[in-house]
Order: sequence, then structure tokens, then C-alpha cells
Amino acid sequence: MRTQSVRWRAAAVLASVLLVGGVAACGNSDTGGGGSKDDGKITMGFSQVGAESGWRTANTTSIKESATAAGIELKFDDAQQKQENQIKAIRNYIQQKVDVIAFSPVVESGWDTVLKEAKDAGIPVILTDRSVDSADKSLYKTFLGSDFVKEGRLAGEWLVEQKKTASGPVNIVELQGNTGAAPANDRKKGFGEAIAANPNLKIIASQPGDFTRAGGKQVMEQFLKANKQIDVLFAHNDDMGLGALEAITAAGKVPGKDITIITVDAVKDGMQALADGKFNFIAECSPLLGPQLMDLAKKVHAGEEVPARIETEETTFTTEQAKEALPNRKY
Ligand code: AHR
Repeated sequence: MRTQSVRWRAAAVLASVLLVGGVAACGNSDTGGGGSKDDGKITMGFSQVGAESGWRTANTTSIKESATAAGIELKFDDAQQKQENQIKAIRNYIQQKVDVIAFSPVVESGWDTVLKEAKDAGIPVILTDRSVDSADKSLYKTFLGSDFVKEGRLAGEWLVEQKKTASGPVNIVELQGNTGAAPANDRKKGFGEAIAANPNLKIIASQPGDFTRAGGKQVMEQFLKANKQIDVLFAHNDDMGLGALEAITAAGKVPGKDITIITVDAVKDGMQALADGKFNFIAECSPLLGPQLMDLAKKVHAGEEVPARIETEETTFTTEQAKEALPNRKY
């Protein structure tokens, strides 16, 4: 018994020596990482928005697979569309002293306090997919993601070209993403700026459908009830557009013909709808951010400089282009 208790005490002393050494090593780290353990392995805490769309599912898969491929230990949290859950997850990651925190902010505002806490703890933060509106850019290392304003603008420019000979008003309804989200704010802005080129193009109704199929369907039903003549639908993502298809068909209209449909994302289901002529145009938004994110995590952990903004390369699709691209579409 006595020998066993001596062994226990020796083990406890050794453990506390290792712990103190480990914490000291983290505190002295010049890598910019908080560092839970000094085993050379990077631990990333990732807070995901939720699982609202096909895009999000593909993004989550990309992040999980890339972490495994890069040998990065991933702690993953699904915030279920709630900012408070994301803040809680980030605070947990700070407590756990992960090496890098990455997250896709559900809304743009309200992050300064928690980002400052991460900075004070010496844990670098990478924004991915969506950005924040913090004035202090030193609160995060980099932002990897799409140019959402450009996506909206490309959608709007395509419509301006299609309707250049229109002699009367063209009534547009808009399905926005969740209120306060960067892609909702920015796509609205880009689209609005582009269609201003033709005063015939008018947004007659615009409401959030929260980036979900159910939201898209429900809001489109309301739009159809409240507006006799709808010529165009601009949906901020494929999923809302796909939900809206059901409402349009149920109202006895032919999607893609009676109502021109423009969306953003280009996930497989959206591309299929485009190839089938139910959608008319998609501005791409790539969810495959995992490999670049893991690469950035390694760099910031090593204390290397990274660009403050890394923009995803994207394109647009018409029906013909969707037919061609679909067989090789990865998501
Ligand atoms: O932030 C990216 C957007 O979020 C995608 O366009 C949408 O589908 C998702 O839910």
C-alpha cells in the first residue's frame, strides 16, 4: 500500500512539473499560438455557423477532411445559427488553450470582446467564409472567403443584360440570408448596385429566408400571395431558391420561365435545377475552404506572416455551363 502511495505521489509531482513546464512553454511561445501541449501537433478550435444549407454541409466536410489530411487535431462545434453559441465555443477553446481558433461568424457585428479575449490569450484567430465588422483588424490574423458583394453584383449584371430590351417595369423579389450575416448584407448591396443601371428593374419585396429551403419556400409563398406580377427571384443561396421552386410550382407558375430565378452557391442540387432550366443563373460561392484554412493555421502557428485577406476564386453558371460542369461537381 505504502509503495503504491509513494508511486502515486511521485507521479503527481511529475505531472505537475510537466504541467507547469507546459504552461510556461505556452506563455513563452513566440509562435502566436496558445498551445495546449508542446507535442508539435496543432489543435484548432472551429466554430461553425450551423447546418442550414447544402453549402454549409459541404463546407463542414471540407474542413473536417482537410484537418485530418493536414494532421491537425480539430475541435468542432456547431452553433446552430446562434451567435451566443459561437461566443461560448470560442471561450471554451480559449480555456482549452488550443493553438488556433477559426470560425465562420453567423452575423457580422458583436465580436470585439471575445476576439480580444483570444488575442490576450495569445491564440491567433482565422476568419473563414464570413467576416466581422470589427474596426480593429489586429483582432484576427486573416479572413479567407468569398467576395459576397461581387457575387451579388455578378447576379445583378447578368439580369441587367437579360432585361436590356425590357420596355416596362421588371418586378423582382429577393430572398435574403439570415439578418445581419455578411453574405446577406453584401449580396443585397452588390445586386442592388448592379441593377441600378436599369431603372426598369425594381425590387418590389425583400425578406430573409435564413438561407434554408423551408425559409425560402415560406417567404416565396407570401411573396406570391402579396404580389400579382413577379418577374424575377433573386435568392441569396441555392437552398432558398430550391424551397421557392416548390412555392412557385404550387402557385401554378413555371419556374425559370414565368419567373426568372437567380441564386448564389452552385451546389449540386442548385446546379441540377439550373441544368433543368428551373433556375436561370447562379453566381458561384465555393465551400471548399478546408485545405487553405489548414495551410493558414500552420503558417500562423509558426509565426509566419499571412495576407490579411484571401479571396476565394469563383465563377458564374448559365444553364449550358451547368450541364457541362455537373458531372464533375464535387459538392
Ligand atoms: O456564408 C456562405 C453562405 O452561407 C452560403 O451562400 C449559404 O448557402 C450558407 O448558408
